[in-house]
Amino acid sequence: MSDADIQQVPPYELMGGKQGIDDLVDRFYDVMDALPQARTIRAMHGPDLTVIRHVLKLYLAQWLGGPQDYSRERGHPMLRGRHLGFSIGLAERDAWMQCMDAALSQVACEPQVREHVREAMLKLADWMRNQPNNP
Ligand code: HEM
Repeated sequence: MSDADIQQVPPYELMGGKQGIDDLVDRFYDVMDALPQARTIRAMHGPDLTVIRHVLKLYLAQWLGGPQDYSRERGHPMLRGRHLGFSIGLAERDAWMQCMDAALSQVACEPQVREHVREAMLKLADWMRNQPNNP
């Protein structure tokens, strides 16, 4: 799988379409729920993760080149703005990525696709930081 292929076929398709993304998000929140290192970011969420599971599925499907249902349901993503109410520094970014790495490791797709998506997610997670002095 070359970079050119990745640019022509949406990662959404290469990662198994709706089922692939739904599974990824469910694993992501299962890990967040269980991992001691994710306790701080888990506590930022409500006790019931049902709604956020649904919303992240829509968001990632859209972000990865699939159906644009997130914007239909939630409007413009304005993702950084939506995170300003939570204190996100390096530790929170890394905990988020740790959950996502565990979830991504189980997606059935080419390793290059996984790495490409992971790098893009890391940039997004880094962009979400709003606590520059948090070590
Ligand atoms: C960097 C660390 C991050 C932390 C600590 C964090 C935490 C949170 C929290 C606490 C919420 C609100 C959940 C709720 O309403 O119950 C949220 C919403 C959301 N997060 Fe994150 N997040 C992070 C990074 C990301 C990244 C990288 C993405 C995308 C790949 C993302 C996508 C979303 C989406 C789509 C929502 C829902 C937005 C909406 O209301 O439409 N988050 N996040």
